[in-house]
Amino acid sequence: MYRDVSSCNTYNYGDSLYWDARYIQEGGSFDWYQRYAALRPFIRNSIPLSSTVLMVGCGNAVMSEDMVEDGYEDIMNIDISSVAIDMMRRKYEYIPQLKYMQMDVRDMSFFPDESFDGVIDKGTLDSLMCGTDAPISAAQMLAEVFRLLKPGGTYILITYGDPTVRMPHISRRVFNWKITLYNIPRPGFHKSESSTSARKSYLEPIPLAENGLLPADFVLEDPDSHYIYICKKINDTNIDNIPAYQLTADVL
Ligand SMILES: C[S@@+](CC[C@H](N)C(=O)[O-])C[C@H]1O[C@@H](n2cnc3c(N)ncnc32)[C@H](O)[C@@H]1O
Repeated sequence: MYRDVSSCNTYNYGDSLYWDARYIQEGGSFDWYQRYAALRPFIRNSIPLSSTVLMVGCGNAVMSEDMVEDGYEDIMNIDISSVAIDMMRRKYEYIPQLKYMQMDVRDMSFFPDESFDGVIDKGTLDSLMCGTDAPISAAQMLAEVFRLLKPGGTYILITYGDPTVRMPHISRRVFNWKITLYNIPRPGFHKSESSTSARKSYLEPIPLAENGLLPADFVLEDPDSHYIYICKKINDTNIDNIPAYQLTADVL
């Protein structure tokens, strides 16, 4: 089922009030899924250091700080939670490369078209997928991300969602981008000695099957692993050769 609520718990991850309350309660910082060090090869490979970067749903993660330490020069961070944005703006007022704005990722009309070279999403589409009207929210968010990317720019989606639940949303024909998929284990995961996976490195892309799904012989070593979708906005007006995977009634 494409709605994919399996990883949503009883909290409403699509609700700004939930996030405000959580950030008031927790303070500090927390990175969902992965730290920058593990994602660095993928990000550095597709988003050059001189890029204008948009971090959607930044929360209180240190990811953007780590990216600036690595040499990124211009990162705009947005989040629906004003609590998170106020905290982060105060915390990083001494780092001019980091900017923070409270904003709903489904309506980023504040920014003109083609404002960014790269957009990074770690857990934000996943949060919308747990909210009410999830497919509509996802479509609104992805349309905004696509609009804001310069031609040739890249959207990097880091998610627990495998291609059965994410491809129908990201590969719609209106989005003219080339998608490359990776899978990395959760931090601290150790491969079992009996693993039958033939993969030599997590840096190898996963060849997608004709239908846009994982190939039949793909062995998922870690069931709690994360997928990285690298979506490069194509500069080409001919979109006929870009596959689109069907939205089914489950998605809508
Ligand atoms: C799972 S957390 C991920 C936070 C951070 N990216 C990380 O990796 O640690 C999801 C974030 O998305 C934000 N969020 C949820 N819905 C949003 C929306 N409609 N617009 C912008 N941000 C949203 C939440 O406030 C939260 O900070």
